[in-house]
Amino acid sequence: LDNGLALTPQMGFNNWNATHCGADFNEAMVKGIADLFVSSGLKDAGYQYVNLDDCWALPQRDADGNLQPDPSRFPDGIKAVADYVHSKGLKLGIYSSAGTKTCDTNGFPGGLGHERQDANLWASWGVDYLKYDNCNNQGVDAQQRYTTMRDALKATGRDILFSICEWGENKPWLWAKDVGNSWRTTGDISDSYSSMLGIVHQNMVLAPYAGPGHWNDPDMLEVGNGGMTDTEYRSHFSLWAEMAAPLLIGSDLRKASAATMAILTNKEVIAVDQDKLGVQGAPISTDGGRDVFVKPLANGDRAVTLFNESDAAQRITTSASAAGMPAAPAYRVRDLWAHTTRETAGSLTATVPAHGTVMLRVARDPRWAIYPPAVDAGADVP
Ligand code: GLA
Repeated sequence: LDNGLALTPQMGFNNWNATHCGADFNEAMVKGIADLFVSSGLKDAGYQYVNLDDCWALPQRDADGNLQPDPSRFPDGIKAVADYVHSKGLKLGIYSSAGTKTCDTNGFPGGLGHERQDANLWASWGVDYLKYDNCNNQGVDAQQRYTTMRDALKATGRDILFSICEWGENKPWLWAKDVGNSWRTTGDISDSYSSMLGIVHQNMVLAPYAGPGHWNDPDMLEVGNGGMTDTEYRSHFSLWAEMAAPLLIGSDLRKASAATMAILTNKEVIAVDQDKLGVQGAPISTDGGRDVFVKPLANGDRAVTLFNESDAAQRITTSASAAGMPAAPAYRVRDLWAHTTRETAGSLTATVPAHGTVMLRVARDPRWAIYPPAVDAGADVP
């Protein structure tokens, strides 16, 4: 969606994967996350949005038809939370559904038929981001429902990132480029390696549809929730970055381990996600569960992610030329997890642990400056 937002994939937090509708989802949590964004270097690393998911509202609208925050979770209302988040230099997101009710079984009021009223209310609270789900849609055409909300958000005059939470037979990647800033590509993630892997397989074939302002969304991060090993969480984070996915932290950072924080704040991996060329990395080979993903970057480098899907360590081999690098006598290879740099004549090979990932950034060696620069004068294309 050409609204000036999400020119790189959105980064932030959403409570859903950590809390669902549990009692932990409340004002104290949201403020605590905003505090940690600043104190733990997450804001510096690029995380910006602090987002509320389903169950923030009361089950009924008020006498004027307005949505009402649940006072047991948000005793000071949403505007007070937004003000707090803004005071930290961050942005606030909210959730609704393009239907009569939201997705939770308790069914909070949805936005269908109330688009203008709800968008105006959110804007008056200072909301900067809407995740808009697809439940209870009464069979109304998806394109129509999401376009109506897009227009209602625009009419508020406020910059509100529009995240479409719909992935089914409507195939939003085919029509939502000018409707939303991102759309889901799969069902809900859960905190397991098999769920994460299944999502990678579905999302990786949709690379051609992604670009600045309109991203494929393979769902929010599970990093730190405890159902995967740190090796698997590093793969999860690497692959989301390689696929230019929104990076929405889904664990309760107030309880995060040092390993979780190290994953979420790896700036070299984040730089791949946030690269302004805005190309979603895609596999060039997947033989025997030995996946090689390549993502072209704005300065002519390529991010090469070697992912071992299998249950035993494997040697994964590719080359700079297979990754699309122009011919050169040598290449500089940066390992984005080991934070080491080496040189290669072309071979890119690593022994990758089970379910693990080696993420490399490959550049032509600057000493071979005789070769034409990868970026043409002034242009941000490889
Ligand atoms: C759907 C979405 C989830 C979450 C829940 C809330 O399942 O896909 O991400 O928002 O609804 O009920």
